[in-house]
Amino acid sequence: MQTHFYGRDLIGDLDFSKEEVETVLDVAFDLKRKRALGQPHAYLRDKVLAMLFFFSSTRTRGSFEAGMAQLGGHAAFIESKTTQIAHGDTPKEIGEIFGRYFDGIAIRHVDWGVGNKYLNEVAKYSRVPVLNMQCDIYHPFQILADLMTIVEKKGRDLRRKKMVVSWAYAASYQKPMSVPQSLVVQMPRFGLDVVLVHPPEFRLMPEIMDMAQEQARKYGTGFEVISDPDGMEKAFKDADIIYAKSWGAMVHTPDAEEGAKIIKKYAHWITDERKMALAKPDAIYMHPLPADRNIEVTDGVIDSAQSVVYDEAENRMHVQKAVMALTMGGI
Ligand code: CP
Repeated sequence: MQTHFYGRDLIGDLDFSKEEVETVLDVAFDLKRKRALGQPHAYLRDKVLAMLFFFSSTRTRGSFEAGMAQLGGHAAFIESKTTQIAHGDTPKEIGEIFGRYFDGIAIRHVDWGVGNKYLNEVAKYSRVPVLNMQCDIYHPFQILADLMTIVEKKGRDLRRKKMVVSWAYAASYQKPMSVPQSLVVQMPRFGLDVVLVHPPEFRLMPEIMDMAQEQARKYGTGFEVISDPDGMEKAFKDADIIYAKSWGAMVHTPDAEEGAKIIKKYAHWITDERKMALAKPDAIYMHPLPADRNIEVTDGVIDSAQSVVYDEAENRMHVQKAVMALTMGGI
């Protein structure tokens, strides 16, 4: 068990080794058990987390805020538009100044080409851990929660289990690609054979694909890519885990209008009962939420017994508490 976390950032999924992620899961399960038993676990008494949001949130804000309170500390909710950032506060100043007020700085900044650089710049000047509440490249806490949920549903030995990470249609806006990117980087380390499927215009960043392939090679797991306008059905066949969500065509084109036009070609990429029936009978359906209901996924699937979306949302809080306790409270 690796336990040296104090003072460390979590910005990219590979910032923590596989062994360290296993420690995070162990602590998360312990904290989940303690909360279920009503046992106090105030590991962060008198500690304060800054939560700086450049983008809206339901689960991330709620779970970090509740988690800090349960750990005996406090979380300060700060919307970027209510700060002086637009009037000149630089990432260096946020790192320097918030690092002196707070015991941790959590940031959500999903602007394409901007968010990840912003987090890393704050981290360079911060004396306290910087935690990624989602950027344009990664969503590490979502993926830790997803991993915890998969372990709960499928057991610790995930070898030879097929996980499909699929693009899905949603016309509301070009969603960040951080969830699929974090999934393909993290999941091969835990034995899952990952199949990534998307229409050709929705490929992921080349450097992320290289990282995913490297992890799959290192851990002896499968990583297959299906880039096909009609690839969803082929990928779903005999899957143990279906994780289907929408993301934007930012790698194909930085032009938002062109991206929106491309999305419209693929309205048939909905996760419905017919496609779920192609997976194994005990397959689980996963989505980080929010979902575009009856566009991205049917009510029949997301509300079915196969759906684990509420467990994923709950586990956000337990994994975040584990990482906060380890990075802000340990030694
Ligand atoms: N899954 C997730 O990050 O949800 P929010 O955008 O509501 O925080």
